[in-house]
Amino acid sequence: MQLAEQAAVVTGAARGIGRGIALRLADEGADVIVADIEGDAAQGTVSEIRRKGRRALAVPCDVTDQADVQAMVRSALDEFGRVDILVNNAGVGQRVAATVDLAEAEWERVLAVNITGVFLCSKYVAREMMRRDSGKIINISSVNGVSGRPLVAAYNASKWAVLGFTKTLAVELAPYQVNVNAICPGPVDAPPTEFQEAHAAERAALMGISAADVREQLRQATPLGRLARPSDIGAAAAFLASEDSAHITGEYLIVSGGLSDVTGPAPRRRPSG
Ligand SMILES: NC(=O)c1ccc[n+]([C@@H]2O[C@H](COP(=O)([O-])OP(=O)(O)OC[C@H]3O[C@@H](n4cnc5c(N)ncnc54)[C@H](O)[C@@H]3O)[C@@H](O)[C@H]2O)c1
Repeated sequence: MQLAEQAAVVTGAARGIGRGIALRLADEGADVIVADIEGDAAQGTVSEIRRKGRRALAVPCDVTDQADVQAMVRSALDEFGRVDILVNNAGVGQRVAATVDLAEAEWERVLAVNITGVFLCSKYVAREMMRRDSGKIINISSVNGVSGRPLVAAYNASKWAVLGFTKTLAVELAPYQVNVNAICPGPVDAPPTEFQEAHAAERAALMGISAADVREQLRQATPLGRLARPSDIGAAAAFLASEDSAHITGEYLIVSGGLSDVTGPAPRRRPSG
């Protein structure tokens, strides 16, 4: 176990990727604060972590709210005495729209959670890490943070911003031996929420195909032939939280089955001769 006796905060860990990250950190020996706006759902992740023999606590927290974030950090310190690992995972998707039709309120909503939330949680946890000259901060960006994808400008801007923030914070915290890195997941296969289903349907309607076809196109475009699982992102987070990544900071790790930057999948052929 690489993270024995470490204390972690994972935001947005009630479900999806955050849940996958929280469970993997617990498998590696970490105790976990499950910080999520959906307090009841967070209890599910907490129960799973406790079944693994690790300590866990659900802390209701809206990452866009400074008072909530400060209270969450206080709860983590009361419970564990310190925070060794912060995973800024909480994030929201965007209603699909061409930029010329994108509502200002939607732009603000997405930026508030996806980048202001990362800033606030980092700010208040980093202060504690600096006092101890130790810590790992892991920010969840996206393959949309390294490319331009149509109809989700607010989401893309927020995920590029996460990488810029990661690089800046990494330099600022390097004198305190705090590593700051990001993960860029490709599309993840997890049970969709109502919003995600509606989002997929909107995008599909704009493209003139079904939501199932959109997913299948993404799968086919992925060289490794499947979408990511929350556990794939959890494995990357466990690496970036561990001492094995001690000399890595200000970087991003793409976990997309090879999807980012490919123009199409390669055919499977036997070598000739
Ligand atoms: N699903 C994908 O295909 C994919 C791909 C790349 C990156 N990502 C990123 O991974 C992260 C997790 O995505 P997911 O697919 O698991 O999403 P999800 O919607 O399944 O889960 C997000 C979690 O964040 C919580 N949350 C939302 N707003 C919050 C707030 N203001 N404060 C606290 N918690 C809040 C939700 O309650 C939920 O538990 C996001 O940052 C997302 O942008 C997702």
